Amino acid sequence: MSSAELDLLVLGSGVAGLSAAVRAADTHKMRVGVLTKGELPQATTRWAQGGVAAVLGGDPDSTDLHLADTLKAGAGLCDAEAVRVLVDEGPARVNDLITLGAIFDRDARGELELAREGGHTLARIVHAGGSATGAEVERALVDAVQLTMAVIYEHAFALELIVEAGRCRGISARFPDGSVREVRAANVLVTTGGAGQLYSVTTNPLEATGDGIAMALRAGVAVADIEFMQFHPTALSVDSMPRPLLTEALRGHGALLRDTNGERFVDELQPRDVVSRAETWRMQALGTDHVFLDATGLEQFDQRFPNIAAELAKAGLDPAKDWLPVAPAAHYTCGGIVTDLQGSSSLPGLWAAGEVSCSGVHGANRLASNSLLEGMVFGPRAVEAIEAGVSGPEATGAMRTVLGMDPDRPDVVPAGVIGGRFVHLEPIPVDHGLLPEDAGKARTILQRELTEHAGVLRDAIRLDAAAAVVDATLRAQRGDSVPDHELRNLATVARAVVDAAIRRQESRGAHTRDDFPDTDATFVHRIVYV
Ligand code: SIN
Repeated sequence: MSSAELDLLVLGSGVAGLSAAVRAADTHKMRVGVLTKGELPQATTRWAQGGVAAVLGGDPDSTDLHLADTLKAGAGLCDAEAVRVLVDEGPARVNDLITLGAIFDRDARGELELAREGGHTLARIVHAGGSATGAEVERALVDAVQLTMAVIYEHAFALELIVEAGRCRGISARFPDGSVREVRAANVLVTTGGAGQLYSVTTNPLEATGDGIAMALRAGVAVADIEFMQFHPTALSVDSMPRPLLTEALRGHGALLRDTNGERFVDELQPRDVVSRAETWRMQALGTDHVFLDATGLEQFDQRFPNIAAELAKAGLDPAKDWLPVAPAAHYTCGGIVTDLQGSSSLPGLWAAGEVSCSGVHGANRLASNSLLEGMVFGPRAVEAIEAGVSGPEATGAMRTVLGMDPDRPDVVPAGVIGGRFVHLEPIPVDHGLLPEDAGKARTILQRELTEHAGVLRDAIRLDAAAAVVDATLRAQRGDSVPDHELRNLATVARAVVDAAIRRQESRGAHTRDDFPDTDATFVHRIVYV
């Protein structure tokens, strides 16, 4: 190892990345770098509202119940081992955050307040500032990492992985002065979040452009479950990018969904794929672009949900009197870089945690408030594995699909393993000039296309149309001498999303095909890009 080489380079600065960086730099005294394309606190984590699902109360809740709820939401594609790790280690990681200084909401007796959200049989969501949990988690972790010796690279855009002798040795990145330089590290942990910006209607911030997933796809690192883009049922239906989120906890506290005739049409506490579908069908039937969230029955709305009350006031809405127009919006990328239970990707030296990863905990649809939890559990696990000298992937968690199977014999599935269909996408030939030169315009076209044709409801005709626009975007990008990095990444991820959605000829979890409305037992497998 050269003296300039880091022990660990973390890409991204959300809950997974910063939990890992603090553990590595503080507990294990590793030489750590944290590289982010924005500023340190500018991660999607900051936008998370509802909270962290973790069994911190006593009876009648249990980690077995949390596990059962997670598996049910995941619609047959969760890895039970990975979920077991998530629910068992989650409570300790929440306590670690409290030790670091994160302040969660407590009742008059000083006990953590627990909220309920869709898909959870019991109230088990810890939260901060009412529904500003992500902001508090991010604040505590940014403060903590700044007290360590970690080197922080801000406004630096990771471009490609450096792969030497079958191992990841760092990345190349574009720095604020315009130079492209290598950052070399014995281990790279990707925690760059999801790709909600694939859609024009999304709750995700502008930075959520799938950068880590795209980099992995270009390097041939295994990516799976990418067709499962989760739509949140209650984004405020206003013309903004992103759309303001109205936390699921509102429904947990009793807010109701009504169609534009005022009628209820779904059990509000079903998992969010069920609710988003029901809304979309109802909107189609009534020819509207929204339904309503009726929170008029909630007491002390302003005190309990101050950040949402402020957002509503900006839109001229008073939750005590007005029904709130809502519609589904792209919210969470359930799939990503395949990892084992330690966070190792298929490329030795490359690790992934949080939304960018496919550890097996979400399957076809993530359970509410399991996302911050996944980041805080699996980020530090990767650090512990590196510290223990683990050098490559093992056949555990979602990685069992990749290592536990013969890619040429997808019909032979070992017991306990979720099978895989292995896909190699051929490169797209250069043929630039098909889309507007202006990358911003091309991004808008791509986002509208995916929203219209690869959204909550999909079918072969719509997906083929989306595939044509994605391919044209990639061709135009590849012709540019200086590509727009985010647009190139979005189009790279979009290609896999649309391709997998075409291949998955069934409806399961967050993926609904109008032309294949049933869940099909022959599709209990991951679609893996290698
Ligand atoms: C919400 O508060 O509804 C979002 C939380 C999550 O995405 O799990």
